[in-house]
Formats: sequence, structure tokens, C-alpha cells
Amino acid sequence: MHLKPLITTAFLATTSLAITDRTGDVLNGAEVINSLDLNDVPSSAVTRYYLRAGELNGGFPLHLPIFIARGPKETLETGKKLSVSGTVHGDELNPIRVVQKVFENLEINIDKLNGTVIGVPGINPMGIYLNQRNFWTASDSGFLTNINRVFPGTNSSSGGNGGNVIAYNLWNYIWGNTSNVDVAIDLHTPSSGSGSSLWCYADFRLPYVERLAKLLQPNILKIDPGEPGSIETTFVRHGVPAITVEMGIAKTWLPDLIDRTYDFVIRVMDDLSMLSGNSSTQHEPDLSKTFIGNTFQGVRSTYGGFIESLVTWDQDVKAGQELGRIRNVWGDVIQILRAPVDARIHQAPIDPSVEPGQDVFSLVYNSTDPSCIDGCVL
Ligand SMILES: *[C@@H]1O[C@H](CO)[C@@H](O)[C@H](O)[C@H]1NC(C)=O
Ligand SMILES: *[C@@H]1O[C@H](CO)[C@@H](O)[C@H](O)[C@H]1NC(C)=O
Ligand SMILES: *[C@@H]1O[C@H](CO)[C@@H](O)[C@H](O)[C@H]1NC(C)=O
Ligand SMILES: *[C@@H]1O[C@H](CO)[C@@H](O)[C@H](O)[C@H]1NC(C)=O
Ligand SMILES: *[C@@H]1O[C@H](CO)[C@@H](O)[C@H](O)[C@H]1NC(C)=O
Repeated sequence: MHLKPLITTAFLATTSLAITDRTGDVLNGAEVINSLDLNDVPSSAVTRYYLRAGELNGGFPLHLPIFIARGPKETLETGKKLSVSGTVHGDELNPIRVVQKVFENLEINIDKLNGTVIGVPGINPMGIYLNQRNFWTASDSGFLTNINRVFPGTNSSSGGNGGNVIAYNLWNYIWGNTSNVDVAIDLHTPSSGSGSSLWCYADFRLPYVERLAKLLQPNILKIDPGEPGSIETTFVRHGVPAITVEMGIAKTWLPDLIDRTYDFVIRVMDDLSMLSGNSSTQHEPDLSKTFIGNTFQGVRSTYGGFIESLVTWDQDVKAGQELGRIRNVWGDVIQILRAPVDARIHQAPIDPSVEPGQDVFSLVYNSTDPSCIDGCVL
């Protein structure tokens, strides 16, 4: 893996010169585009587009909603470019409201915006439609694709299926293969069935990622080497600072976490001098409630059954402490789950049904194993 050594190399990336390719269609009042050149987007305005992202079987076109906020004309060159995306997993809905709120703010404050913000409130319209995590492809008897494992994507001429094409078109035609993005924030929630508070993954090896993660003021900050094919890691491996933010609970809008994440995006814009007239003093993140750890460890069920939790997220536990009991359908306790180490609970079940091999609880701590210094998931 090659990481660019300095954030400045990312900041120097030039803006794509390709002209915006419009299909001529207008959908829900927004122009439909195949690709985007930021020079063609109105300055001092928030503009809505739909990115054409391939077709479904039967020829039904697939469209991704895209917000672009551009400050005054010259700030396209002089200011930073931020991407805020979410809901690449279709059941993780808190991110959608965060992106909407950021652009509600930018509508009002557009003349003060020093730079450009790209917002993608729902990367996976198919997953949102199905109310589940993955993209559904109908051919080959039907199968699911986790779009957050296939970035930077594959086009259909190279054999990419629907989920791959979404990734390819977003990566190349909106994010311009990073040329339209200096810093990226990708918003998620934990998978359906588990709950948490606010936390993030951050690959500290790339400059500015640690600062970005600390500006979130999360409950848990996971030092992490990243996941190949994810949006965060694809940006990081192209030298663009990025984090994955995890907001509480899938399929559930949590106003508190939405507000905390929205405030974070505003702090990042401030930190990148994207809000002229705002504080010029460096924001000192309040980390008094933040647990920083390099290791996640799952506590697994050996059986299928029903979990009775004795602990919840953000609680500290001692090695050997009982976390929960798995009962069979008769109510007999068939397994007691215990903490393997002193740690903090980072995710706990909200769905009582469990199956063999499932990470029922997830713990966070600092491993002393030198191979975990950049992050481990056990
Ligand atoms: C706009 O952003 C650029 C790049 O970060 C910075 O050099 C400049 O001072 C900012 N301008 C204002 C008015 O904040
Ligand atoms: C498809 O992707 C490949 C690899 O990025 C590229 O070489 C090719 O030009 C693309 N084809 C089309 C039609 O965009
Ligand atoms: C995307 O950018 C990387 C550098 O960040 C470059 O190596 C690669 O060739 C680019 N890909 C395309 C399809 O332009
Ligand atoms: C400026 O910063 C404050 C606090 O950091 C925030 O409440 C406000 O919304 C920011 N201004 C703009 C234009 O967003
Ligand atoms: C874990 O290690 C990091 C430094 O790598 C440190 O900042 C953090 O405070 C440690 N966390 C705990 C809970 O001790």
C-alpha cells in the first residue's frame, strides 16, 4: 500500500477539466448528469443534480442525488473541497439527515463559503428501496453487493455490475478520481441489530486523519488500518484524508447524533477555513468523553438463540465479566458471554435473536501487541 506522505499533495490536486455531461433529462426539478465539472456548477449557490448511475434490468435508470455548494467564483480554486457522503448501506439512515442539514446551512451561508462542498445523501438508492444494507443485482439468480467494498468501482464495459457501476460513476464522475475532493467524510451507522453511540474509524498513518477524527469528538475513536474497497480507505490510499463515522443505530433517526455529526461537519469546514468570517482560532476538540483504542474484539455466540444483555454500549467491563446470556427457545441458558479483556463496550445487541458465529458484543481497547499499533479487528 502506498500512502502519499503529505496532505498538501492532496490539496494540490487539480480540478478536472472535463465538461459536465448532461443527459438533457430533468428529474424532480434537478438536472441529470453523467459526469461533473465543478467549473460548470453555478458559483455562490447550492445546486441539486442527479448522477446517472447505470440502469437496472428492464432499462430502468438509476440516479444518485448530488448536492453541490459552491462559494463565490474564485473560491473553487482558492478554497478547499469537502465531500460529505452517506448511506452507502441502504439501512443506515442517520447520515441522510446530516447531509440535508449541512446543505440547509450552506443555502443560507453560501456567500461565506470559501470552497466547495459535495454532498451525497444516499449512495445506495437500491438498498434504501429494499430497506437493507446491500445492492441487489437480479441476474445470476440474484445476489447482493456491499458497495462499500468495491470502490473505486468498475464500469460496465469492464464487467462491473450495478453496485460496481455506482461506485465507479461516483468515484470518477463526481469525485473526479479525487481531483474534486481534498477531505472526505463518509457517514454510516452500525449494521442492523446492533447499537452504539457515536464513533469513527481513522487511519492515523495519513496526516490530518487524526485531527479529523478528533474534531468529531466521538464516544469511541478506533485507530484503524482501513478496509479495502471502502470509501474511506479508497480516499486514504489516494492520499485524501477521510474517516468513516458510525452513528448509533440503523433504520432509526437519532436527533442527538444527527446534531453532533452535523456540528462536526461545520467544525471541519471551519478547520479548513471554508467558512469566512468564522473563528480564526483553532478549535480545541473536547475529548473528555472520547475513548481512543486500536483494537476491536468481537464476543461471539456459539449457538443460535436469544441474547439477554447485561451491559450496554460505552460501559467499561473487566476481563471475565458477564456480558450476556444466550437462551434457547425453552429459556434454558445455553451460553454465557464474558469479556475476554478489560475494555469498553463499543457495540451491543438491540435485536435479541443471535446465530452461531455472530459478534454479539464488540469491545474496544488498546492492544499491546505491536502488530496492532495501526489498528486491529479481532
Ligand atoms: C480560503 O481557503 C484558503 C485555503 O484554505 C485559505 O488560504 C484562505 O485564507 C481562505 N480564505 C478565507 C477568506 O478564509
Ligand atoms: C472503463 O474503465 C476502464 C478502467 O478504468 C477504462 O479504461 C475504460 O476506458 C472505461 N470505459 C468506459 C466506456 O468508460
Ligand atoms: C486516479 O488517480 C490516481 C492517482 O491518485 C492515478 O494513479 C490513476 O491513474 C487515476 N485513475 C484514472 C482512471 O484516471
Ligand atoms: C461558525 O461557527 C459556529 C460555531 O463554531 C457555528 O455555529 C456557525 O454555524 C458557523 N457559521 C457558519 C456560516 O456555518
Ligand atoms: C490508547 O492509545 C492511544 C495512543 O495510541 C492513546 O491516545 C489513548 O489514550 C489510549 N486509550 C486508552 C483507553 O488508554
